[in-house]
Amino acid sequence: MALKKKEIQTVSRKREHIDISLKHDVQFKKKTTGFEDVELEYLALPELDFKEIDTSTKFLGFNFSFPLFASSITGGHADVKKINEEIAKACSNAGIGMALGSIRAMLEDKKVADSYKVRKFLPKGFLAGNLGVSQLKDYSAQQIGKALDELQADALFIHLNAAQEALQKDGTPNFKNCIKQLYDFCEAFEKPVILKEVGNGISGTTAEMLKDVEFEALDVAGAGGTSWTAIDSLRGNKEIAETFWDFGTPTAVSLIQARMVFDSTPIIASGGIRSGLDVAKAITLGADLAGTAMPVLHAQHKGGVKGIEELFSKMQKEFRIGMFLTGAKKPEELKGRKYYLFGKTAEWVEQ
Ligand SMILES: Cc1cc2nc3c(=O)[nH]c(=O)nc-3n(C[C@H](O)[C@H](O)[C@H](O)COP(=O)(O)O)c2cc1C
Repeated sequence: MALKKKEIQTVSRKREHIDISLKHDVQFKKKTTGFEDVELEYLALPELDFKEIDTSTKFLGFNFSFPLFASSITGGHADVKKINEEIAKACSNAGIGMALGSIRAMLEDKKVADSYKVRKFLPKGFLAGNLGVSQLKDYSAQQIGKALDELQADALFIHLNAAQEALQKDGTPNFKNCIKQLYDFCEAFEKPVILKEVGNGISGTTAEMLKDVEFEALDVAGAGGTSWTAIDSLRGNKEIAETFWDFGTPTAVSLIQARMVFDSTPIIASGGIRSGLDVAKAITLGADLAGTAMPVLHAQHKGGVKGIEELFSKMQKEFRIGMFLTGAKKPEELKGRKYYLFGKTAEWVEQ
């Protein structure tokens, strides 16, 4: 059976996203994550033996060797199957979790489901599916649940991506009634739902708007790392690519604001997480887990499974040193450690 126009668009968009991400520098240009404005208090006498530091943590009941996972990247095209498999293998070897890219392509065309099937490469780790909030009106909780069962995934990320959809030449920027749709979906869906942005951030006001929705965790996916307004405008809105390149709420600001709204809901910090020290800063500011996407894609492209493992190993080492220098024996002990906030990030939070 021939693919419909909508299905062809979804599949080729996934391929184009990977190509642009690998060929162009699509990181934010002027805006940063704000983590450079966060200084952890250094303890010259941490009263710890480096050997006794335990970086492991639990998130939604799943074990992580340190608080990091590979954020949603891809799926839905035969060419990207290898990328997903290699990320899954590296995550399994590193003892961390993984999120798949949007499963929209698989919901539209079952034949591409194979490109998402990585459970056998990540037998014990946390594995999550992903879907856009705009697609909730097209599929029932049962249909999406069935797809997740087929992938043996543990949870579902739903991306809230108004900025990306608005800049996408084939986007669906209709965000009317989304809160109600999210509310109904979370009530009906059996697996944990994690809400996320895609790199433009969840502001304090957006977090407030989500207060009645019964999701399990929130990933702020803030500005300062990969710019999706840049990637999608490069695909088809080149004349305005620069205008929204740096749009959104920086990750550190998003995280602080979301934590003010949700005092006990698990929060993930992602968007521009590039080192284990960023992870340590994120946990200190109140995150439970951190995520990274673009560095994983580049590491896979350059060095396959080994390349990704080297990235994770370096980040874990940096995280461990960050814990040592702030006197934290376990990741939870980072929370509540003293930190200083400077510059634009401090101003943003104060306002
Ligand atoms: C090639 C690529 C594809 C992505 N596809 C998705 C996706 O399907 N769904 C989603 O929620 N986020 C997607 N993202 C966004 C990431 O999950 C992440 O939120 C964003 O890139 C910011 O993190 P980073 O700065 O570490 O890259 C994608 C990222 C990349 C690099």
